[in-house]
Amino acid sequence: MKRHDLTRRQFLAAASAGSIAAVASSPLRGYAGGSRTGGKLALLGGTPVRKRKSWPPWPYADQAMVDSVVKTTRSGIWCRIQSPTGTVATFEKEYAKLIGARFCVATGSGTQSLHTCVEALGIGPGDEVITTPYTDPGTVESILAARALPVLADLDAASFQLDPEDVERRITENTRAIMPVHMAGQPCDLERIMAIGRKHSLAVIEDAAQAHLAEYRGKKLGTIARVGCFSFQASKTIACGEGGAIVGDDEALMDRCYTVHNHGTSRRGATETIGPKYRMNEFQAAVLLPQLASAHERFLRRNENAAYLTSRLKGCPGVVPQKLYEGTASGSFYLYAMSYQKEHWNNVPRDAFLKAVEAEGVSLSPYIARGLHREPWVEHVLRSKVFQRMFSARRLEQYKEALACPNCDRVCQEMAMLWASGPLLGERSDMDDIADAILKVYENRDKLSSA
Ligand SMILES: Cc1ncc(COP(=O)(O)O)c(C=O)c1O
Repeated sequence: MKRHDLTRRQFLAAASAGSIAAVASSPLRGYAGGSRTGGKLALLGGTPVRKRKSWPPWPYADQAMVDSVVKTTRSGIWCRIQSPTGTVATFEKEYAKLIGARFCVATGSGTQSLHTCVEALGIGPGDEVITTPYTDPGTVESILAARALPVLADLDAASFQLDPEDVERRITENTRAIMPVHMAGQPCDLERIMAIGRKHSLAVIEDAAQAHLAEYRGKKLGTIARVGCFSFQASKTIACGEGGAIVGDDEALMDRCYTVHNHGTSRRGATETIGPKYRMNEFQAAVLLPQLASAHERFLRRNENAAYLTSRLKGCPGVVPQKLYEGTASGSFYLYAMSYQKEHWNNVPRDAFLKAVEAEGVSLSPYIARGLHREPWVEHVLRSKVFQRMFSARRLEQYKEALACPNCDRVCQEMAMLWASGPLLGERSDMDDIADAILKVYENRDKLSSA
């Protein structure tokens, strides 16, 4: 059996039919503890599970990338418009091929990619785009940059993804598009969101910033909606410091994306529309291009390790890995996301849990502190003259009244995740360290309130 097949099968076995969530929330039955999980907590002076061992380094770098940057430096071709067959143009072709899209336009960041799509779809002042409050600010800012109104729908608290029902509830006569995020690099409930888009004639822009190479219902994320956007910011699973890409099959729309991102100037050389200057430069592409050949191998390894980690955490109550939707074949595993449910841990607060796991040598993070519905941009927008001119006072009032996203608040309180781009490239023993650190803290939970 090929390694690829094995990985897919293992992944599906772990992910099937919500079994991850169901098993993990069951009693301790099936819990895979061991001798390393039984001792005194490192926080209380015991020996840590993982002793001063580093994770596989991230961002990924190899000699081919170094050579490529040197070559670009020496070539004097530093900007994409200096050569139609330069590194950016080549990267666009190769990335489109890798992802399974007809076209790609590379940009300077994921935020720039998203904003370019919003503009290219003709969305602007007076329009509304529905998205999630549980995301990087770049998602929401890409809508605001077009002076359109980001409408935030609540989450499915088990998957950390947009709840399609709440999306549909928030559609108004001004809604033009839905921008779902594939949180942590796992597919959101895209089939239902696409159906809502079709029913209400709304464009769907996939924010696949975290979701490189992930597959859902036979296609790679980013290629299912009209356009999909990626980020190559330093922490991502394909990275160059800052960078982004738009992919899509609609030639006319992708041509408009090129024009918008190229300060409104088309491939034919005419300045045709309003557009920022968002071009990827040759150095960014020089870092990215040589990575692509081995990116799939790293993606498979992350999936394999994630499936193993999930199997190790089975039956540990109150640490529930992200729910995956039917149709999920693989994830990018940019994050390995779990929810920490303190009611199963003698009500030990999440911060104390994180501190204890950290002392065992494994760093988990609470990730997003509060949803974007709770950030000050909301007041800024509601008070701004542009928005007051473009939206009725009643609409802005309703907007404020409907801001609550209780499931997002809960996710922010419960999230415990691993920055996975590097760690999930580790050995099986590294995965055992992660699982054992969590399980050891669980076994000692009654001592944590006094720690
Ligand atoms: C879900 C999501 N959307 C958008 C962005 C913005 O991408 P960038 O940081 O490349 O602008 C990010 C980056 O972290 C992201 O995670």
